[in-house]
Amino acid sequence: MTIKSLTDKLTLRNGYQIPGMGFGTWHSPTGEIAENAVRCALENGYIHVDSAKNYKNGPSVGEGIKKSGVKREDIFVTSKLWNTERSYDRAIKQFKEVLKDLQFEYLDLFLIHWPASPTHYDDYVAVNKETWRAFTDLYKDGYIRAIGTSNFWKHHLDPLLDMEVPPMVNQIEFHPGFMQKELVQYTRDCGMLVEGWSPLGHRKVLNHPLMVELAEKYGKTTAHICIRWALQHDVIPLPKSVTPERIIDNTKVFDFEISPEDMARIDAMEECGFSGLAPDTNPY
Ligand code: A2P
Repeated sequence: MTIKSLTDKLTLRNGYQIPGMGFGTWHSPTGEIAENAVRCALENGYIHVDSAKNYKNGPSVGEGIKKSGVKREDIFVTSKLWNTERSYDRAIKQFKEVLKDLQFEYLDLFLIHWPASPTHYDDYVAVNKETWRAFTDLYKDGYIRAIGTSNFWKHHLDPLLDMEVPPMVNQIEFHPGFMQKELVQYTRDCGMLVEGWSPLGHRKVLNHPLMVELAEKYGKTTAHICIRWALQHDVIPLPKSVTPERIIDNTKVFDFEISPEDMARIDAMEECGFSGLAPDTNPY
């Protein structure tokens, strides 16, 4: 069921709740820009912030959260383990750095940013499992409320499914023109929720003629159409912006509904705005 507000939540397989739309911080420059963006988002209704160690802006995100005055327990914050820190000990160490960056005692959600892949590792399954053991221990020790993966495809996910604590979320690229339909379905079949990064298709989707046509039809912007389409697919969109007007405007997606016919037209769009990043071929 489509969420109705920024504070509406979905329930993860372990019962923990996640707000159904989040604020993205990828490419938000560290310092005042990232800090003010996060602060602006929280002051304008977001209660969910997505971050990552490799975005290199963790301390600014933490400072923005602190200055917003929003209580820690009232928000949901995600971070991700970077690729150089796979394996048990390094994962634990980087997680502790993430907490320090954010000035937190605990994290809501921690994700493996990219899977170890067969392209780069003879035994990628063992590497992912060892990293996952660290995530499991941090979760069981109470440092993290939920754990998951990012950019995992079926062959990366499968080996984790029968581990002691299975992943709860998979965060993948998801926007009109790149909806990874089978992966979304498979992730759900595994009992996980789907989060969508770059819901605006890195802005490339915003000028697509279909988006422009639908924006006019519904009296909204093309960014609204992209975000609303993700919401109606029950994917948690994570729009990023450092521009206050856009941060605020991107929240105005709960006052209209895209018809089933128009949803199908967007679903049928040709590939558009794909980042080019894929787990088995990216350079990591
Ligand atoms: P900026 O941060 O300068 O405001 P995606 O999430 O798909 O990767 O897209 C992020 C990009 O989209 C950023 O460059 C961001 O710019 C831009 N952006 C965010 N919201 C909007 C909007 N409502 N209209 C146009 N561009 C936007």
